[in-house]
Amino acid sequence: METNIKWAELGFGYVKTDYNIRSEFRDGRWSEPEVHDSEYIPMHMAATCLHYGQEAFEGLKAFRGKDGRVRIFRMVENARRMIRSAEYTQMVAPDEELFCRACVEAVRRNERFVPPYGTGASLYIRPTLVGTSAQVGVKPATEFLFVVFVSPVGPYFKEGFRPISVIIERHHDRAAPLGTGKVKVGGNYAASLISGEQAKAAGYSNVLYLDAKEKRYIDECGAANFFAIRDGAYITPKSSSILPSITNMTLRELAADFGLRVEEREVEFSEMSSFEEAGTCGTAAVVSPIGKVFDPDEGRTYVVGDGESAGPWTVRLYDALRAIQFGDAPDPRGWNTVLFNEE
Ligand code: PLP
Ligand code: COI
Repeated sequence: METNIKWAELGFGYVKTDYNIRSEFRDGRWSEPEVHDSEYIPMHMAATCLHYGQEAFEGLKAFRGKDGRVRIFRMVENARRMIRSAEYTQMVAPDEELFCRACVEAVRRNERFVPPYGTGASLYIRPTLVGTSAQVGVKPATEFLFVVFVSPVGPYFKEGFRPISVIIERHHDRAAPLGTGKVKVGGNYAASLISGEQAKAAGYSNVLYLDAKEKRYIDECGAANFFAIRDGAYITPKSSSILPSITNMTLRELAADFGLRVEEREVEFSEMSSFEEAGTCGTAAVVSPIGKVFDPDEGRTYVVGDGESAGPWTVRLYDALRAIQFGDAPDPRGWNTVLFNEE
């Protein structure tokens, strides 16, 4: 059955689809994944996720190719990251096999919502893990729910692939140096809302966080990693409080393929004025060039490149990533899981 979605006009938001996939951990084991058509989750009011934020989530995408097939990008990496998030928050994670099976099933069941090739849109997959045991004491749950829902999405930033303006954040931290920043848990996003809303109200697309301890190094950019290009190098921050981005991991490999030197290291904010190109990267953000960086404490705006257009390496990285995701280029490292492959 067709949908009446205007694919090319989609933004990044929730669109109701037909089914979601759920599995419950109880009595020491995960149930077989079940297909549900309700968008609601019945839950005890004392569930640990509601009070103590015992929650982790993932974000990945499925893309329809010219050949009509659907490709899910680097799904196993998301499964591994959810396992790390669950470990930090003392939850039992679905193993890689269950995680991947549930994601594939969620995409298959909602195939009519995978946007057509050429629209630029994709199907966002949101696996979510929560503690569901009724408890008041601050201790880990013994029961968990794993749910995977999907939503067709368009660009994360209204600018699309045009350079965005970001604002430096020195007055709120999203995560502490030895805290939860390196895992994908809901609390990090709750902690980032105030910065995000203030940035938006001031006319910026995103926040650029500096490191929580010294405010000396670049951390990450809202819900995306930061990268820059200078003197033939792809430079990206190494920090204990940023999320290890699967998109960034991919770009590092592509950058090396292109002959760029890859530097994953502490990146001083003072380097900003020397960057030839800068950008953000993530599943939602894809690759988004940064044109301007406003530092409100210094009252200074850094213009990256000409500030108005994406630089050549950023374009090349974006094109290469999209070509693999949509199946337009070979996938020599086997990043895609191809569905509807049967003859
Ligand atoms: N950093 C944060 C805080 C994020 O929420 C995300 C999104 O998942 C990223 C970076 C990018 O990670 P990935 O490329 O794995 O989507
Ligand atoms: C993603 O890129 O998958 C994210 O999780 C970003 C965001 C919408 C939270």
